[in-house]
Amino acid sequence: MDQLVIEGGRPLVGNVKISGSKNAALPIMCASLLTSGRNRIHNVPDLRDVRTMTKLLTMLGAETAAPQTNSITIDTSNAEGIEAPYDLVKTMRASVLALGPLLVRHGQARVSLPGGCAIGERPIDQHLKGLSALGAKIDLDGGYIMAHAKRLKGAAIDMDLVTVTGTENLIMAATLAKGETIIRNAAREPEIVDLAQALNSAGARIEGAGEAVIRIRGVDEIMPLEHSVMPDRIEAGTFMVAAGITKGELCIANPPLEHLTVIIGKLKEAGLRFQQTPKGLVVSARRAPRAVSIITGPYPGFPTDMQAQFMALMAVSTGSSVIQETIFENRMMHTSELRRLGANIEVNGSVAVVSGSRHLTGAPVMATDLRASACLVLAALAAEGQTKISRVYHLDRGYEYIDRKLSQAGAVVKRQAE
Ligand code: EPU
Repeated sequence: MDQLVIEGGRPLVGNVKISGSKNAALPIMCASLLTSGRNRIHNVPDLRDVRTMTKLLTMLGAETAAPQTNSITIDTSNAEGIEAPYDLVKTMRASVLALGPLLVRHGQARVSLPGGCAIGERPIDQHLKGLSALGAKIDLDGGYIMAHAKRLKGAAIDMDLVTVTGTENLIMAATLAKGETIIRNAAREPEIVDLAQALNSAGARIEGAGEAVIRIRGVDEIMPLEHSVMPDRIEAGTFMVAAGITKGELCIANPPLEHLTVIIGKLKEAGLRFQQTPKGLVVSARRAPRAVSIITGPYPGFPTDMQAQFMALMAVSTGSSVIQETIFENRMMHTSELRRLGANIEVNGSVAVVSGSRHLTGAPVMATDLRASACLVLAALAAEGQTKISRVYHLDRGYEYIDRKLSQAGAVVKRQAE
């Protein structure tokens, strides 16, 4: 296992290019199972989760090749497999995105039930409820979801709660179902819009992606996909915080601005400065951030995937802020690690009260999940002295070349075996 060793206390100054979005790339890769032929997906980030998804598609019989960096070809002509095994699903929950596509492709699917994970229980009842409404027969056996349906039939589905991958699974299933499907109370995340665009350019008929009601008119087949994945809004937000927390100045070449309104709004309230230039968005800070409170929510609310990083910024703010997590019941594990660096945080359930301290000091800490790792990297960049972050495999699931990108902006970061 690797660890990152960061010598903090230096302002980050330089340019950053944002990679393709992990949470858009994963469903789009899965959507290739709805086709028979050579799918070509571009701007795919080189990440551990993407490699796991490639492995799953290969196990299902797809032939995958990466003809050039960040492009992947997925030939699904002979993808005859129907099973997403426990060993893969346990390392990446997003494997459950194969359920809808496998079911429409083969009339059956066998997908391991993902268990709980570090940040919460994360059931998938809404995925199953939606597929049942489309006519699938679903059984649970030996830890596996067994789904059967000769051909799915369009239906009106009222989601009990907003779920991102649940909405994606149902969009993919409904694309090849017979007749019309309406998903109400759908998730509105930009990654869902990206998936719908990839499918629509291949012949699907999806309307309303990005809104709470999505209408899908089923078609008999779609062509192989050719799509370039949207830039990662969470990676962009993370680098904005990196500029702010180190009182530096980063020029972000290609941020997906239209999806960053809420994040940028909160960072501006905290005193970060933003300037659009021909080279990109310049984010800078001269002094310690002001305290700003946030409540996470489904898009267009403040993303849960930026909560931990924002907390790192608030840990060095000039006042007290309240951070409330409403999406996952256990996404506050970074608080105890932040305290090891000198942060002053009290947690009560899903609410954290952060009293900003002027200085954080380096210490050994442990990453517990992907965004918690990003939070610790940010805090380490601001802390005086050396921080060793262990278990950075979490970070490698979702941030492409992060050590290289940080080093290019002047951070002193070293990766070493633990
Ligand atoms: N939920 C249910 N039943 C369901 C589905 C969800 O109760 O059938 C609950 C979950 O337990 C959670 C809430 O609904 O409390 C929202 O979960 P959602 O299904 O939206 O999360 P997800 O689809 O599993 C995706 C991202 C996450 C991101 C969340 C929320 C992907 C591959 N993952 O997960 O990304 O936090 O949406 O925006 O798109 C990350 O990148 O670090 C990450 C965890």
